[in-house]
Amino acid sequence: MRVGRWLLVLVPLVLLGLERPPVLPHAPAPDPRALVPRVVPIPPDNPQTPAKVELGRRLFYDPRLSLDGKVACASCHRPEFAFSDGGNPVSVGVFGREGTRNAPTLTNVAFRRRLFWEGRSPRLELQAVGPLTAHHEMGMEPEALARRLSSIPEYARAFQEVFGEPPSLKNVAFALAAFERTLLSYNSPFDRFVAGDDRALSPAALRGMELFFSERGDCFHCHVGPEFTDDEPRNTGLYTVYPDVGLARITGRDEDVGKFKTPTLRNVALTAPYMHDGSKKTLREVMEHYNRGGEPNLNADPLIRPLGLSESEVDDLVAFLESLTDAQFISNPALLPSR
Ligand code: HEC
Ligand code: HEC
Repeated sequence: MRVGRWLLVLVPLVLLGLERPPVLPHAPAPDPRALVPRVVPIPPDNPQTPAKVELGRRLFYDPRLSLDGKVACASCHRPEFAFSDGGNPVSVGVFGREGTRNAPTLTNVAFRRRLFWEGRSPRLELQAVGPLTAHHEMGMEPEALARRLSSIPEYARAFQEVFGEPPSLKNVAFALAAFERTLLSYNSPFDRFVAGDDRALSPAALRGMELFFSERGDCFHCHVGPEFTDDEPRNTGLYTVYPDVGLARITGRDEDVGKFKTPTLRNVALTAPYMHDGSKKTLREVMEHYNRGGEPNLNADPLIRPLGLSESEVDDLVAFLESLTDAQFISNPALLPSR
């Protein structure tokens, strides 16, 4: 009898539980020293070869890939700013045409599971087609691009060598992706700390790191793992009314308004201004946004709430973010224009 009655209660509960997506408890903070670099994933249909990477590098820095012959990938992804565009809130493409978004860093972009601010592109090979053909970026028609590169003997030769065919939008994108997968940065003071150097971080950066990986600062739930991102679209309460609706532009769903992909924080001190629209000028401004708990927004992530950090704790967080800068990355000759 008794057992029967319990079953009546338990069975519906279990069924209810099965219907809902499981509510995962928030992951506990990791030990920062466990955040060691991972192996770069290479797609089987675009194996890396030195000749392909070299071709990709040449293309990346070459403004002849654009309609007016003045804009290269590197115009908006400049090595000295960790492959972001250095100071412009939104990017400027061919004929001075302005876009609407801030150029993200390409630091360790090989690991991104989603590309673009709302994550609309799944892989680098597809992503590159975007800027090559976008009206406000490089503005090229696929046939015009193929024709122009075929008319440059050194490219005609290099494409034949690497792909066994003449230049096309597709193989340009594949070569660019191969080069982008070499944009690897693992030599910041933070990385040296992870590798065992106890003196790599200043006392302020150490305090900031502790806050970053604590329930109080709560940064690590979105800026996850050694790449400092979960690659998930999130609403951080940047605005109450978002001029750019982010993920909702693709899905059309109300609950996706204002969702943008969590960016990596590697080399973040080099990539001002911040956020998808470049609306925050300094890291301190970004930290003040989080400390306030953002602006009221229906879709804001529950992790965004007033943090109650003191001025000096905010400074410590900034010091930690600055310790993610890798000076060797931006001066690595293998990643700069070839001579
Ligand atoms: C006119 C400036 C401009 C040019 C030129 C440009 N980009 Fe970008 N790039 C941007 C902006 C702005 C974004 C973000 C756009 C968005 O999210 O809608 C972006 C996003 C990206 C991303 C996604 C990064 C991420 O983490 O989501 C990659 C990869 C990238 N660009 C590579 C390239 C390559 C390769 C080229 C050359 C073929 C190039 N870009 C040319 C401005 C530019
Ligand atoms: C709910 C997830 C989430 C939490 C929690 C979070 N972030 Fe972010 N962070 C994001 C997203 C998403 C963006 C981009 C938002 C946008 O552009 O609209 C971002 C942007 C940033 C930027 C600007 C980076 C750039 O390239 O523009 C910095 C710096 C940053 N976060 C640091 C932190 C720190 C430090 C904390 C902890 C105090 C933190 N974040 C907590 C998701 C989060």
